[in-house]
Formats: sequence, structure tokens, C-alpha cells
Amino acid sequence: MRQSAGFILWLTGMSGAGKSTLSRALRERLESMRPVELLDGDEVRTWLSRGLGFSREDREENVRRIGNVAMLLARHGVGVIVAAISPYQGSRDEVRRMATAKGIAFVEVYIQASLDALIARDVKGLYKKALAGEIPHFTGVSDPYEAPSAPEVTVRSDAEPVEAGLERTLEALRARGLLP
Ligand code: PPS
Repeated sequence: MRQSAGFILWLTGMSGAGKSTLSRALRERLESMRPVELLDGDEVRTWLSRGLGFSREDREENVRRIGNVAMLLARHGVGVIVAAISPYQGSRDEVRRMATAKGIAFVEVYIQASLDALIARDVKGLYKKALAGEIPHFTGVSDPYEAPSAPEVTVRSDAEPVEAGLERTLEALRARGLLP
């Protein structure tokens, strides 16, 4: 049976940067073209990564689990969108290496926004709490975020509309022959 090639579209960025918004828009556009699945960190933490916290070790374990599920799906032709802070370059690279070794395309999308913009927007009210010291190990405030050194796509969510990032990401998939 002929099927479309699976891939992993990995959205990384700080809390509130717009990973979930872009990932949902991508899913909506992609699902009319091919099988697609979305793994959102916030949601994955209620099942696959239930019980994991936000220490470096737990975040790396979270990314490893998401990466493994993404690979299983992609191996069977699913276009997998991942939306997770995934703050460590090493863990993202590990998934990239494993996927690539299995012949699965890995496309990294960096959702970039300045800390000032994230604090000003603060959709979930988490930055206010983190700055008040009420959330330990909060990414960008009291915990590191390692920006990707060579992402396939960079989206400036504090400076461009969602639609622009969406089109650029779709174009990156098209350029790699991953869309019909
Ligand atoms: S990670 O780093 O990839 O394991 O994180 P992820 O699974 O994507 O989960 C991020 C969401 O958890 C909430 N949250 C925190 N984020 C960052 N740091 C700390 N300490 C923290 N505690 C809770 C937050 O709502 C994140 O959701 P998003 O969608 O990124 O805003």
C-alpha cells in the first residue's frame, strides 16, 4: 500500500510563545492533505508523561517519550506535529538523530518571542507567578531555554501574524517533498 512519508515537525519555544496556536493551525491545514497527529507537551503531561516535573532530568525524559511516540507514528506515514518547550538543544538533537537514522524527516521550528513580550502577554498568568518566585524552574525566568542553533524554520511570534509562520512552515515541508 502506498502511503505518504511520515515526518516530525518539532515546535520548540518558551511558554506562551505560540506553539499550541501554530500547531493547531498546522494540524487544521495538514489534515485535509494527509494523516496527521499533534502531540502537545502540556497535554502529553496528562498521560504519557504524567508524574514528570520540570527538572532537567524530567524535561529530558518528557522529550524522549514524545520523540519515541512521534517516531512510531511517523514510521507509519503520520505527519507528527510536536509542540513542547523542549528547552535543551541536546535532547532535541537526540530525537533528530534517532529520527534521521530511521529515515524520518525531522523539521525543527523555533517559535521565538522576547521575554518582555511573553511577560506582557502572559496568557496563562504563569510569568507573573514565576517572577514572584511562586513557580520554581520556570523556563526563561529561573530555568534555561537553549534556542535552536540551526532550526529549519524560525517564527517571530512577537513580530509577525500566525498566518505568516504557518505559511513558512508549510513551505518548508513542501520544499522537502513532505506534502502532496
Ligand atoms: S518541557 O520543558 O518540554 O518538558 O515542557 P512541556 O511539556 O512543553 O510543558 C510546558 C507547559 O507546562 C506548564 N508549566 C511550565 N512551563 C515551564 N516551566 C515550568 N516550570 C512550568 N510549570 C508548568 C506551562 O503551561 C507550559 O505550557 P506552554 O504551552 O508551553 O505554555
